Amino acid sequence: MSTAPVPVRSPLPAGLAGSTVVIIGGTSGIGLAAGVLLSGAGARVVAVGRDQARLAAAVDLVRGAAPAGGPADPVLGLSADGSDEVALAEVFERAGHVDHVLVTAGGLSGAGPVTEVSHDDFRSVLDSRLWGAIAAARLAATRLPAGGSITFTSGTYAIRPVPGMSVPLAAVGAVETFTRALAVEFAAKRLRVNAIRYGTFDTPLLRTMAGLDSDAAVAKAGEGAPLGRFGTAEEAAASALFVMANNYVTGQVITVDGGQSLV
Ligand SMILES: NC(=O)c1ccc[n+]([C@@H]2O[C@H](COP(=O)([O-])OP(=O)(O)OC[C@H]3O[C@@H](n4cnc5c(N)ncnc54)[C@H](OP(=O)(O)O)[C@@H]3O)[C@@H](O)[C@H]2O)c1
Repeated sequence: MSTAPVPVRSPLPAGLAGSTVVIIGGTSGIGLAAGVLLSGAGARVVAVGRDQARLAAAVDLVRGAAPAGGPADPVLGLSADGSDEVALAEVFERAGHVDHVLVTAGGLSGAGPVTEVSHDDFRSVLDSRLWGAIAAARLAATRLPAGGSITFTSGTYAIRPVPGMSVPLAAVGAVETFTRALAVEFAAKRLRVNAIRYGTFDTPLLRTMAGLDSDAAVAKAGEGAPLGRFGTAEEAAASALFVMANNYVTGQVITVDGGQSLV
């Protein structure tokens, strides 16, 4: 293994042109927005999700964003559960060469008072969030070239918790710690590891969880945020592209929340 530093290249998203990015959770919300931005920047996207209909729609959207003269086959959609290491291994096998991995998949089972959470709920959220991150890292370890990166997802509730979220947030907090520890472990491979800690963003997940069924309802709910609105999925995704593209960012948990954690 060479320990030579990775050569300097453009830290702007344009520097990702020609690279391949696996997005585990790439069929909706932040992951889908990342796929569209990456495709537009000339990267090849491997979008992973469980639901076939969402996968097919996402592939169309990502393909539509590809520039003329970009990769011959700009998107591959693969159905897999991100917490299943065997299924993820198959994803990497079918993806071929992979430069970067973005993990936005993650469940919230185990929500509720800690006294009422079952061991199965606990295992489920640990599997989907923490084991999903560990499995992605284990597969990336031997496949990504020097200069590659892994980006995980966290949320501001990890540092500004609300009642009834202690078990899922224990898993989210563990992902943040895993990010820092893995960055140190993978630095010699010249692989970078980061996480984005998100505030509230307008995605299908938010709309479902908060019972917001229209743009007007989302706008109304966002009025109390410091910037007067919730973030867009594209704004969330752009921060993941930032850490992916910038070869000098590693071991960081970067908060992107429109200032929500300050108030
Ligand atoms: N939106 C927010 O305000 C916000 C705030 C803080 C943190 N976050 C975090 O950001 C991440 C993305 O959120 P989002 O709002 O973009 O959610 P979303 O719109 O629900 O998208 C989640 C994506 O992950 C996929 N997914 C979920 N579980 C999976 C699994 N086990 N295996 C493979 N794919 C899986 C989903 O597809 P399938 O269901 O078809 O598999 C979907 O493509 C989540 O981890 C969320 O907790 C979001």
